[in-house]
Amino acid sequence: MGRWSRAVAPVFLDWLGAARRASWLDVGCGTGILAETLVELCAPASVHGVDPAAAQVSAAARGPARNHAQFQVADARKLPFADASFDVVASALVINFIAERPRALAEMRRVARPAGLVAAYVWDFAEELSPSAPLRRAMRRLGADVPGIPGTEASRLEALRALFLEAGLEQIETRTVDVCLAYADFTDFWESQTPDYQPTTKIIAQMKPSERTRLMHAVQAALPPGPNGSIEYCARANAIKARVPR
Ligand SMILES: C[S@@+](CC[C@H](N)C(=O)[O-])C[C@H]1O[C@@H](n2cnc3c(N)ncnc32)[C@H](O)[C@@H]1O
Repeated sequence: MGRWSRAVAPVFLDWLGAARRASWLDVGCGTGILAETLVELCAPASVHGVDPAAAQVSAAARGPARNHAQFQVADARKLPFADASFDVVASALVINFIAERPRALAEMRRVARPAGLVAAYVWDFAEELSPSAPLRRAMRRLGADVPGIPGTEASRLEALRALFLEAGLEQIETRTVDVCLAYADFTDFWESQTPDYQPTTKIIAQMKPSERTRLMHAVQAALPPGPNGSIEYCARANAIKARVPR
């Protein structure tokens, strides 16, 4: 799914309009896609990334941003930084997954400097517009018990706005980011949509071969290939940015 993260990050960073030579914190950095994109595009003075998953952090630390960013294991709800440490605190595709979102936001605000930026984006799960939506919709249509995505309702723009307001942030702005991607063919789509860690992959693995074939046909009917066999569709991220009061 990294290709979708990579498609949203530059649009979000351009919209943030952060100054060059800023100090950045990437909260829930995963394998470091936002960090590496901002190193490429935003001329940062420093970049830190945190994520509670040690495997993700070590992948980020080996990745393209390794010479320009520092990555460490930490949770958004307890950030290991002093107050007012960063010019920009940003979080990509994470906030809906956090169990205590107000606590995470309070921490993000605390480590951002006065007048600094706090910003985030998440897939629009509430409107079923995430990159996994076509597969999830087809599974549901065939009667599979598809588990809900954690924090689905929290992915709405209004929910993000309420969360940022509650954290005492100011000058709140929101936008949607629509990104469209093409997979080379159905196999490319299918392999990318069924990584081991997805709960839907486990459900598909337990299907009878005939059910799995029916599901593949249902997805193919919903996503007809282009003339060269490629599969293209769009997903939507909801983005928010705000300032810490002076
Ligand atoms: C969908 S990935 C996004 C990764 C990356 N930011 C990107 O844009 O590709 C979600 C990430 O959120 C992290 N995460 C989940 N709960 C978190 C928490 N409480 N604090 C910080 N990160 C968290 C996960 O470990 C995972 O790496």
